[in-house]
Amino acid sequence: MNAPYTRFMAFVVFMLCSLLGNAQSNQNITDTINRKWWKEAVVYQVYPRSFKDNDGDGIGDLKGIISKLDYIKSLGVDVVWLNPIYSSPNDDNGYDVSDYRNIMKDFGTMDDFDALLKGMHARGIKLVMDLVVNHSSDEHEWFKQSRSSRNNQYREYYHWWNAEKGKPPYRYSLFDVNHDAWRYDSLSNAYYLHYFSRKQPDLNWENPKLRNEVYGIMKFWADKGIDGFRLDAFQFAAKDTTFPAFPKGFEKNFTQYYGMQGNLHGYLQEMDREVLSKYNVMSVAEGAGNTFEDAHNLVDADRNELNMAYAFEGVDIARPEGYSIIHLKQVFTKWDSAFAAKGWLSIFLANHDQARLVSRFGNDSPEFRAVSSKMLTTFLLTMRGTPYYYNGDELGMTNAGFSTINDYRDVQTLNEYQRQKNIGADLPAYLKLIAFESRDNARTPFQWNSTTNAGFTTGTPWIKVNPNYKSINAVAQEKDINSTLNYFRQMVKLRKDNLTLVYGKYTLLDAQNPDTYAYTRELNGKKLLVLLNFTNKTASAQTGMDLGNATVLISNYQKPSKNGTLMPYEAVVYEVK
Ligand code: NOJ
Repeated sequence: MNAPYTRFMAFVVFMLCSLLGNAQSNQNITDTINRKWWKEAVVYQVYPRSFKDNDGDGIGDLKGIISKLDYIKSLGVDVVWLNPIYSSPNDDNGYDVSDYRNIMKDFGTMDDFDALLKGMHARGIKLVMDLVVNHSSDEHEWFKQSRSSRNNQYREYYHWWNAEKGKPPYRYSLFDVNHDAWRYDSLSNAYYLHYFSRKQPDLNWENPKLRNEVYGIMKFWADKGIDGFRLDAFQFAAKDTTFPAFPKGFEKNFTQYYGMQGNLHGYLQEMDREVLSKYNVMSVAEGAGNTFEDAHNLVDADRNELNMAYAFEGVDIARPEGYSIIHLKQVFTKWDSAFAAKGWLSIFLANHDQARLVSRFGNDSPEFRAVSSKMLTTFLLTMRGTPYYYNGDELGMTNAGFSTINDYRDVQTLNEYQRQKNIGADLPAYLKLIAFESRDNARTPFQWNSTTNAGFTTGTPWIKVNPNYKSINAVAQEKDINSTLNYFRQMVKLRKDNLTLVYGKYTLLDAQNPDTYAYTRELNGKKLLVLLNFTNKTASAQTGMDLGNATVLISNYQKPSKNGTLMPYEAVVYEVK
C-alpha cells in the first residue's frame, strides 16, 4: 500500500471518528437539555414604522425592511419579531388593529408581506408576528357593529355596561387621559371597556365566537408560513364579566387585579389545541403575571400553553435617578433559578415600550456610550433564556430626549401630558421624566448613515431623527472593527458557537458587589465566566477564581482584565479550566 493512500485512509478514519464523536457529544447534550430552535435563537425586534422608509412618505414600510434583510442577516440573528403591521388607524402605532387579515396602508401590501417572508426564509431568518387580541381598534368592523345596537350579533365581542345600571365599577386605563377604562357611548347608551386608549376597546374573550375568530386569524398567518406569535397584553385578556368592585385601595393595581384572571390558562390551552400545536411556531406572551407560579403555568411544557415567559421585573428596574446593580442581579438571578429546572425565559432590557437600552441601563455620554452598550450586549447574550434585542441598540442608539411635547407622537405620553396639565401638575418635571422614559425615545428612525434623516427617509420623518445620527450610524460602524455593531455580531456568534451560553447552568458570584456582575455558565464540563462592570469607574469582581489559565473569548477592551479588576463598563467572557 502506498504512503499517500495510507495517509488518506487515516484522514478518512479520523474525520469519521470526529464526526461520530461530535454527533455523540451533541447527542449527549440533546439528552440532557431539551433542545428547541426557539431556545437557541437570538430574536431581533424590528419596529416597522421607524426601520426604513422605501416610498418617501416618512414612515417605515415593508419594502424598506426587505431592502435591509441582508443587514439583518449580517447580524447573525435567527428570528425577527415584527411589531404590528395590520390595518390600523394608528392611534397606538398599529396596536389598534382594524383588520387582522390586511396590511396597514402606510406599510404596503400583502404582496410586500409575502415577499418579506420569502426573503427572510431564503436567508434562514424566522418571522414572529405581534398578535394584538386583548383589544382591537374601535374602527374594526366588529366594534362598529357591536356599538351599533344592543341586539347586534357582534355585541358580545366587547365588554359593555348598560348605562341604566349606573356607572360601572372603576377600572383603570393605562392610556386614557383620565385613566378611566369605561367610555360612555351614546349610540346604545352603554359604557365599553378599554384598558388602553379609547380607540382600543377590549375584546370579550369569554365569548367563544370571538375566540374562534382569533384562532382563524392565527391560522391565516400560520398558513402563510410565519414562525411564531407574540401575544400582546394577553395576560389582561380574561375578565370577570360581572365586573365586581375591586377592594378599596386596589382599584388601580393593574398587574395584581387585572392580569392573569379567570380562565386565561384555559384560553391558552384552547389556543394551543386549535392553532399552536398544529404548526411549528413559537409563542410568547407579553408579561408573565405576578408570581413565579403564574409564569410557570404559562410555559410549563406539560400544560400546552406558551413556549416562553416574558417577565417585566428586570426591564422595570431602571429609574431616572439610577438603579441598584445588586437589585438587578437579584432580579435576574431569581428569575433564572425559578426556571432552572422547567420552563423557559426571555431575556431583555429594552423594546419599543422602553426608552433606549444604553440611556437607561448604561451610560450614553460620548465617553462611555460605546463601551457601556457593548457591556450590556454581553450581558443580554450570555444569560440563560432567549435574548430579545431591539433594533438600533446594536448601534448604541440613544434617547432622543425631546424638550418639547410637540416632538412626541406616542399616545401614552401625549395623553399623560394632557392629564398632568388637567390636574395642574408640574409640567416641566413631567417633560424631564419623559425625556428619560417615554417610549418615543426608542422609536426615532433607525440611523443608517450620515445623510439627511439618517438615510431613513427621503421625506419628512413621522418622528424626529436623533441629531446624533451624523456620528452614530450603521455605515460608520460597518467600517470600524471595534464598533458596537461589530461587537454585537461577535457576541451573537459567540452565543451560537457555545450551547453553554444557551443552556448552561447559571451561578451568580460576588452577589453583594455593588458595581460588578459576575457569573458562570456551565454545561457538560465546559465552564464560562462572565465579568461585567456596570459603573464608570474601575471596579473589582471577587470571584475567588484564578484567571491565570482562563482564555478570553471576548471583551470590549483591547487588553481584557486578567485578575478581576475591570475598567469602566468592561465586559469579559472567559473559558475557565
Ligand atoms: C403592549 C405593546 O407592547 C404596546 O406597545 C401597546 O401600546 C400596548 N400593549 C397596547 O397594545
